[in-house]
Amino acid sequence: MPVLHNINFDKASFKDFEKIPNLNSFQRTEAFKEFTDYMETHGHMNYRFVTHNGCGPEILVSSPFQEKPQSCISLVSNDYLNFTQHPKVKAAAIEGIQKYGTGAGASPLIGGHHDYHVMLEDKLSSFFGRAKSSSIIYTTGYTANSATLLAMLKNNDCAIVDMAVHASVFEGLLETNVKRFPHNNLDYLERALSDTRSKYVTRLVIIDGVYSQDGDLAKMSEIYDLTKLYGAFLMVDDAHGIGVLGKNGRGAIEMFDLLDKIDIISGTLSKALGHIGGFVVSKPEVINYLQFQSRQQVFSSTSTPATNGLLVALNLIDEEPEWRNQLAKNVAYFKKGLLDIGLDIGPTESPIIPIKIGDAHKTGDAARLLLKAGVYANAIVYPGVSRKDARIRTSLMATHTKEHLDKALNAFDYVNQKLNISLVH
Ligand SMILES: Cc1ncc(COP(=O)(O)O)c(C=O)c1O
Repeated sequence: MPVLHNINFDKASFKDFEKIPNLNSFQRTEAFKEFTDYMETHGHMNYRFVTHNGCGPEILVSSPFQEKPQSCISLVSNDYLNFTQHPKVKAAAIEGIQKYGTGAGASPLIGGHHDYHVMLEDKLSSFFGRAKSSSIIYTTGYTANSATLLAMLKNNDCAIVDMAVHASVFEGLLETNVKRFPHNNLDYLERALSDTRSKYVTRLVIIDGVYSQDGDLAKMSEIYDLTKLYGAFLMVDDAHGIGVLGKNGRGAIEMFDLLDKIDIISGTLSKALGHIGGFVVSKPEVINYLQFQSRQQVFSSTSTPATNGLLVALNLIDEEPEWRNQLAKNVAYFKKGLLDIGLDIGPTESPIIPIKIGDAHKTGDAARLLLKAGVYANAIVYPGVSRKDARIRTSLMATHTKEHLDKALNAFDYVNQKLNISLVH
């Protein structure tokens, strides 16, 4: 069993290589290379597989376990509505490039703010039922969160954060005070709101609409009420809900009827909307502030003209609700199938469906067996989730057919027979 710098490779995770006493950064990269080589030679590397045919329900995957690329059912994509392949979205993206070229040329503050950016921001404002100038776009959903929070929260402010929010939120909190509360725990949230009263200039509660590991929803109504009771502000990152949930596809926030009430909504353009980018929706004064004070807007370029496709994608949410409806049917069918096998899928209420296994090694084995059976799904282990909470995470798409889902369910049944992943752990 190889042990290097006191790290046992059989038990290690990527996190163990973030800091190693007495090694400089470059030596640390060498130690890490030994670890990834070890994982590969022992058939344990489940990440960064190359795929060859874009996003879709069937995907061609190159993995260390097969000599040639293998056609698999894809359960790894957040392209929930499969809009990356929608002919109208593709045509509009191509049209944008033909009209404007391929890049923005500068950061928005100093020459890279084009009318196609303004059209997208206006469209986002109206999509969420807000006034003009209520939206700003960022290069990714990650920077929408991190850059916005870095601009908004300083050392006399405080973020009160659900522990399960996305990593990009925590990156945005490096210059402020942070109180974390256990996931969806209203008692702890209330205590944090009460303890921080009159200690900070701003108190911003930050939650996700849909949580990306369990696929469950925020207790948004109660959290909103508590936040307002204690005079704080609320930010919701609805990266996984927008386009997918709610009667009109406006996301988890629409389900809770809070679209006009949330102080800051953030989201991504890279999941249901099928492209890349992120955005923030808030009061026009907040947006104006971010335009000039958010470093990412000042020192970094935003989207390319291919974002033209996003205008069409946003329209399709209204014009072709059948994608959203089919996705909901697929989710119901797949969840029932997994439960019938006896698997633990937790409290998911979205197209993210985890199959909870617990043990990290068993989870890696399960992912590899699934792949061999023609199903590509992610093994999520520490530090993505806590050490005892490893799982296979699946994401469904509107374009999965019943045949795709049946094949995936058969593969889970087979893996369960081999590994007993339904055992109580
Ligand atoms: C909850 C949440 N917020 C933000 C992001 C970042 O989005 P993007 O991929 O556009 O950077 C993700 C991506 O996985 C996410 O799950």
